[in-house]
Amino acid sequence: MCGIVGIAGTRDVAPIIVEALKRLEYRGYDSAGVATLVDGKIERRRAPGKLNNLEAVLRKTPLSGHTGIGHTRWATHGAPTEANAHPHASARVAIVHNGIIENFRELREELTAKGHKFQSETDSETAAHLVTDYMDQGLAPAEAAKKAVARLIGAYSIAMIFKDHEGLLVGARKGPPLAVGYGDTEAYLGSDAFALAPFTNRVAYLLDGDVAVIEGAQASIFDDQGRPANREIKITSASTAMVDKAGHSHFMAKEIHEQPEVISHTLAHYLDPAGPVVRRHGVGLRKTLAKASRLTISACGTAYYAGMVGKYWFEKLGRLAVEIDVASELRYRNPVYPENGAALFVSQSGETADTLAALRDAKAKGQTTIAVVNVAESSIAREADIVLPTYAGPEIGVASTKAFTCQLAALASFAIAAGVARGNLSESDEKTLCASLLETPRHIAEFFKQEPAVKAVAEEIAKARDVLYMGRGASYPLALEGALKLKEISYIHAEGYAAGEMKHGPIALIDEAVPIIVLAPHDVHFEKTISNMQEVMARGGKVLLISDSDGIAKAGKVWAHIEVPKTNAFITPLLYAIPVQLLAYYAAIAKGTDVDQPRNLAKSVTVE
Ligand code: F6R
Repeated sequence: MCGIVGIAGTRDVAPIIVEALKRLEYRGYDSAGVATLVDGKIERRRAPGKLNNLEAVLRKTPLSGHTGIGHTRWATHGAPTEANAHPHASARVAIVHNGIIENFRELREELTAKGHKFQSETDSETAAHLVTDYMDQGLAPAEAAKKAVARLIGAYSIAMIFKDHEGLLVGARKGPPLAVGYGDTEAYLGSDAFALAPFTNRVAYLLDGDVAVIEGAQASIFDDQGRPANREIKITSASTAMVDKAGHSHFMAKEIHEQPEVISHTLAHYLDPAGPVVRRHGVGLRKTLAKASRLTISACGTAYYAGMVGKYWFEKLGRLAVEIDVASELRYRNPVYPENGAALFVSQSGETADTLAALRDAKAKGQTTIAVVNVAESSIAREADIVLPTYAGPEIGVASTKAFTCQLAALASFAIAAGVARGNLSESDEKTLCASLLETPRHIAEFFKQEPAVKAVAEEIAKARDVLYMGRGASYPLALEGALKLKEISYIHAEGYAAGEMKHGPIALIDEAVPIIVLAPHDVHFEKTISNMQEVMARGGKVLLISDSDGIAKAGKVWAHIEVPKTNAFITPLLYAIPVQLLAYYAAIAKGTDVDQPRNLAKSVTVE
């Protein structure tokens, strides 16, 4: 959840560490800091809030030094103050840390008893003092670091520099990713290849338990037993370009508008338009689909809602039994996995700690693991048996938009493949479904003509304190996603419900102050959803209906409506995602919140 960078360089590194941190700010933006060695001594600059605050501090009091580390924080232990900002330092060591050290209280007590003085409330500072303690006992820095990390329980990636040791950087990983970057005269540590892209495209990811010791441009890696280890150096495709907003006011707006293009890219990977048919990718995948006794789906947040839509598709098209749960529950439930089962994990970042842990558990219990991921070099992509990539490109806005619809595009293609492999879909069914799916980008592009109308209604919704979303069938997960999107970026309280559940409790919330957003494509569920909508309206509810022209005509008078193009019912989840995203976006704009970096959130959740 935090971003870390380290450079053993040949020039002043503080400015370039800050540039690399800008590429990691999606991981957290509560506070930031940098530490370097100046004449052998550790010097730090830190600031609460976003990176531009740290830049202002550095402009006032610049920092020289060729060896340094930097950090952008998503707070876990301790408020986002300057004192809790990384790097944390003792007189001899400075560290930056991403993750959670679960045994920090015991370690802190032990070190306090030995006379160590702590200046922050963080778990991370404990690691700095533990390393110092081993150095005080006479160990060389790298040995002290190895001994210290061996005692840490929890999940971490760490980078350290040491007083009087110019050019020495030590990194360690257990859980959150950490990459070593190889330059010609310099070496680097970073949370991902994207952060290191301006310096080098030669990158090796540490494995769990690894420690990297960098001296000048040389890096030595040791495994969890302390043995020298070779980790493959890959040439990454991470772009050096800082992704820009392409003329939009926010990354979220840009990413919403990119959807026709990135969905096309994703579909091009899965579908052959000449058929149209699903491309016959790997034999392993088709075999897995054909013989699977059950599919378990798991993910977190928006990716989980994509998985939920997938459940409707797999059951309907593949007649495949599906069980679904959020990863933070599944990983601890000790679920009963069937023989010949497959387990599917959905993740934009490919680094979400709970999703990764659930995948490892399913794999250990004999499931064939399949991952729908957007980041090809991520941990989840590396560990899954079968990878289904999405081609959304870098998603910078914290609220997931284009990654969600690309996940849906991959899942829809995969569900058709399951239907074919299991003998449930005929050739002509496959053609019809693929043809509809291929039309999605065009329909989304057409829908953008409605954007001014969506903005106008969003400005009304922005005045509400509570908002309800409801839908049936595959529109139910969309109702959940709509509510999540609205609450995370506009801070308006919102809930999504299965339309049929309203009268079992939530209908008590209805009055004229609570807008109800009804997602009702003109499909097999339409009449029933409209009955539920009428029940809400009979109690004074103010309904915003999202439907196509037939649905809107049939539904009668409502407070407001948004018209979505008429399509095959199969692809409506992809299409209805767009009004739901735009409503949240314009409600947030009306409320003046920080759309791309909403409070308390971070893009990549590598702690549980
Ligand atoms: C919400 C959002 C989150 C993520 C969730 C999983 O807009 O972005 O709910 O979907 O944190 O993240 P990934 O997909 O990276 O595993």
